[in-house]
Amino acid sequence: KCTEAASGLLHHLCRFLTRSSSPGLPGPPSLFLIGNMMELTHEHLPIHLTNLARRYGNIYRLKCGNTTMVVLNSGEIIREALVKKWSDFAGRPVSYTGDIVSGGGHTISLGDYNEEWRAHRRLVHSALQRCCQQSLHDVIERQALHLREVLMDYRGSPVDLAEDFTVAASNVITTLAFGKEYGKSSSELQKLHSCLNEIVALWGSSWISALDSFPLLRKLPNPVFARLLKEVAKRDEIIREHLNNYKSQNNKTEDAITGSLLEGLERNNNTDHKRLTDIHVHMATVDLLIGGTETTAAWLNWTVAFLLHRPEVQAKVYEELCTVLEGRYPKYSDRRRLPVLCSLINEVLRLRPVAPLAVPHRAVRDSSIAGYFIPKNTVIIPNLFGAHHDPAVWSDPYSFRPERFLEGGESSTRALMPFGGGARLCLGESVAKMELFLFTAYLLRDFHFIPPENEASLPDLRGVASVVLKVKSYTVTAPPPSG
Ligand code: HEM
Repeated sequence: KCTEAASGLLHHLCRFLTRSSSPGLPGPPSLFLIGNMMELTHEHLPIHLTNLARRYGNIYRLKCGNTTMVVLNSGEIIREALVKKWSDFAGRPVSYTGDIVSGGGHTISLGDYNEEWRAHRRLVHSALQRCCQQSLHDVIERQALHLREVLMDYRGSPVDLAEDFTVAASNVITTLAFGKEYGKSSSELQKLHSCLNEIVALWGSSWISALDSFPLLRKLPNPVFARLLKEVAKRDEIIREHLNNYKSQNNKTEDAITGSLLEGLERNNNTDHKRLTDIHVHMATVDLLIGGTETTAAWLNWTVAFLLHRPEVQAKVYEELCTVLEGRYPKYSDRRRLPVLCSLINEVLRLRPVAPLAVPHRAVRDSSIAGYFIPKNTVIIPNLFGAHHDPAVWSDPYSFRPERFLEGGESSTRALMPFGGGARLCLGESVAKMELFLFTAYLLRDFHFIPPENEASLPDLRGVASVVLKVKSYTVTAPPPSG
């Protein structure tokens, strides 16, 4: 009892000392009722939050309704919260609309941190690992070759490749998830896509986020919210159909993730006291399809856009591919022998982390970051875009210079954090890394990306930021490399 009392006293003393020794968090003036809501409706939120860091420092607060958000803008501070103090900040904010899109908090990405969530993440992680070991390389190679055929068919005419990149990335994840590939014109694929895209876009809109901060607005008619509900219902119907199809197959295989998840469910429920159910498999499938499509596709589209601005980088990668591979197609195991290609991949991940603000975290208990007291339930925004543009870490941070990774070596790579970190590290990191490497290597081996002749301007590199940071649409020609 004495030890308990002493440790309680110590805890309160520590809390008091952190609170009193740290002045209040800086931040822009907060308006009555709406707080800093206007700051959050900025057109390019990651750039805006990064600019605010130049004024208020690498950690500052924003108020939205009765929620306090703390924005972290440097690698060091983000690592302190997400990695060093991971157990303090592994939660997700529970929100009215988040609950709707995550089937009552049952996705991994939006589910709050608790025993059930841990069992869920473990189950999906091991199913994903198992399928990746068995088939990921083959699946990506097949899709890379398929993408090559699609580009060949354009015969060097100007095209916007965004949709082709989405189909390629989506086919990797649907093959892993369901053991099923779709063609570009498959209506089933288009239905799934448009519905998942709509959900991400609508959920990211301020019409929807306002409902979380201002409950009174839920009483008013809101057509955007009605559309969100409709798309969520459509999504659930499509996934349910896939899962039912799988269950009714006679010779089920565990090659596909859903199969592995359903089998794992049985095993898990025999050994783990936290019961996982079909809803967990259903929502994990949603996680993988959403997490695994637009991110990779957006990254590929950024890469081509940057290469159009610096053709000499493309020439260097091509030269390296020719010398090292001597005509054959690359394997993921070649990556250490292809440093120029890897520097390109890292530089695009640095400049355009496709999930620029990660996913908001929540303090599950009172804690501190950078010496500031952070009370339980504070929402934490890791501004990965800001960390990747921090002038204290990156020289000339806004320039596209893949060479920096060749000059800076391992330490530059360690400063990158496009996949977040700690307990909430991107679940698809290894899938994504293999995809980025193989797709880029296949594309740059067989095509020379150049701007269409009649177009005066190169792609706009500022981008459009929602949940995913995308490049504005542009056209490109992709004939085979000459010589
Ligand atoms: C979460 C980045 C591809 C599935 C995240 C987070 C980031 C991220 C920053 C949030 C981490 C946090 O909350 O701190 C990326 C990037 C990708 C990519 C840059 C590609 C270039 C993928 C792929 C998949 C995937 C291919 C699926 C196969 C997920 C899931 C989560 C997540 C399920 C939620 C994890 C959790 O809350 O525990 N990703 N991702 N991602 N990602 Fe990715």
